[in-house]
Amino acid sequence: MVKDLTARWQNSDTLRLIRNIRTTGTITPSSPNLINRLLKSVDFESARCIVELGPGNGCVTEVILERMSPDCKLISLELDSEFAERLRYINDSRLYVYNACASSIRKILDELEIATVDHVVSSLPLALIDDQVVQDILTTVGENLCEGGRFLQYQYSLANYGDMKPFFRDVKLRFTLRNMPPAFVYECVK
Ligand SMILES: C[S@@+](CC[C@H](N)C(=O)[O-])C[C@H]1O[C@@H](n2cnc3c(N)ncnc32)[C@H](O)[C@@H]1O
Repeated sequence: MVKDLTARWQNSDTLRLIRNIRTTGTITPSSPNLINRLLKSVDFESARCIVELGPGNGCVTEVILERMSPDCKLISLELDSEFAERLRYINDSRLYVYNACASSIRKILDELEIATVDHVVSSLPLALIDDQVVQDILTTVGENLCEGGRFLQYQYSLANYGDMKPFFRDVKLRFTLRNMPPAFVYECVK
């Protein structure tokens, strides 16, 4: 059960999301319903390495940490330096926070001596990101997921739905009304 994280949102999170709307793509953190929908197909029992893209204020990060096993690593890549700095205050030795673009997954995995990852969970606003950078991100996600690994991405439109197909053998589309705004979730299997 996702605890009600909305009670813990700070006004500063919303202000930062609005101020940086061109890179955040939203004005409010994801709802517990969207987070549940996004993480529904993650096998937390067997996962040993999860990568998170665009953690922002950490509302998805905290739920992943709550559900994952003691010997799983969570590697979170956030472009915004202030959000990245604040994520470092989460007191959990399984969490590795990087102030970096999502396209640099391989460089970070090399630093940590990790070959492949089990799941990639993404809140990136793909529709606002440059097309070439989206292609670079999807390429590196596809290359670094293990066989059968999942890429889970939410979006407020279907603008990038077609981009997923070349990189994954199965792409399923989910939807939840219980978020502001309502959101699609792509469940992609390598
Ligand atoms: C919609 S917010 C998501 C915040 C939170 N995970 C949630 O679901 O409410 C998207 C986040 O992606 C980050 N972001 C945007 N482009 C990025 C990139 N190329 N690499 C890493 N993070 C990026 C933004 O700074 C922002 O914090």
